[in-house]
Amino acid sequence: MSRFLNLRLERLLPYTPGEQPKIPGLIKLNPNESPYPPAPGVLDVINREEAAKLRLYSDPDATNLTAAIAAHYGVSPKQVVVGNGSDEILAFAFAAFFDPAEKLLFPDITYGFYPVFAEVFGLAPTVVPLKEDFTIDPSDYTGGNVVIANPNAPTGLALATSQIEEILKANPNHLVLVDEAYADFGENCSALPLLPKYENLLIVRTCSKSRSLAGARLGYAIGHESVVADLQKVRFSFNPYNVNRLTLLAGEASFADRAYFQSCIAKVKATRARLTEGLRALGFTVLDSQANFVFAAHPAETGATLLAKLRERRILVRHFAKPRIENFLRITVGTDEETDVLLAALADILKQRS
Ligand SMILES: Cc1ncc(COP(=O)(O)O)c(C=O)c1O
Repeated sequence: MSRFLNLRLERLLPYTPGEQPKIPGLIKLNPNESPYPPAPGVLDVINREEAAKLRLYSDPDATNLTAAIAAHYGVSPKQVVVGNGSDEILAFAFAAFFDPAEKLLFPDITYGFYPVFAEVFGLAPTVVPLKEDFTIDPSDYTGGNVVIANPNAPTGLALATSQIEEILKANPNHLVLVDEAYADFGENCSALPLLPKYENLLIVRTCSKSRSLAGARLGYAIGHESVVADLQKVRFSFNPYNVNRLTLLAGEASFADRAYFQSCIAKVKATRARLTEGLRALGFTVLDSQANFVFAAHPAETGATLLAKLRERRILVRHFAKPRIENFLRITVGTDEETDVLLAALADILKQRS
């Protein structure tokens, strides 16, 4: 730490991203990336001709991409804002809407960036414990701004749309930010149908998971026009060119190919069912995931040990050394072949132990 660091950030603990090691032959089931390539159209638009245009700034209004996203969801382009990953959109939202003088509520076990952003923006959040079964109780979220990941990470559990509506109704004068990074893999949990009714709803989404574009960095938010206008104000105050030229094109091509998108999601869901079943057959407790990962614990072995033993076999999963969840592993749903290798490795690790 230098002598110059803002004192407010002295105790800031930055977010720890999932490892990205360059070990050949690695099975990477740690940061919930897609095992499938981006839509074929994405590969076509990222070409020499477009790369040559990198000397020019990108469109600060992201006009074509914003229109494509708006058309996909049947909303006005004025209800859509794009970001350099949804993390950036989340940062913009924390800056735009949350004030130290107001209550900000989010769960104790959730996406690790929320407490980091709270610290960066000098907020003192009210951290609400999940219930014993790791579900969120909507009635705990009243009298303040709310941030909820739905499906939640790392549990994979989701509230139904009607439960999100309860939270919106209970906080008419506060913003309810619903982070739907994983909602494309869930059933009846998205808050999208609630958009026309609730001015206080902001939905944040990402192209990193269901659209196989994690490395392109593309996220977006959908909300009431006035709320999105506020986010645009913050975006233009930080970086109007926050989404680069190639990513704008990649995003457009992805939204143009609905069939490819749906087929990837169907494959992930089918493999998630196989993975869940396989883990349960090995004695794991597996939460009912609505995301592209599962959260699982074994009664006979600690999460840290399983993480280390899988790593020895070149399989990366994610572990959080946090109270209540230290025995769980968060495992990204990979291909069927990767799932077979993982299940065989876990069976072997557990057999060697007994
Ligand atoms: C709940 C949740 N929200 C947001 C993100 C950020 O996604 P990105 O910045 O890649 O769009 C993640 C990434 O893992 C996540 O798990």
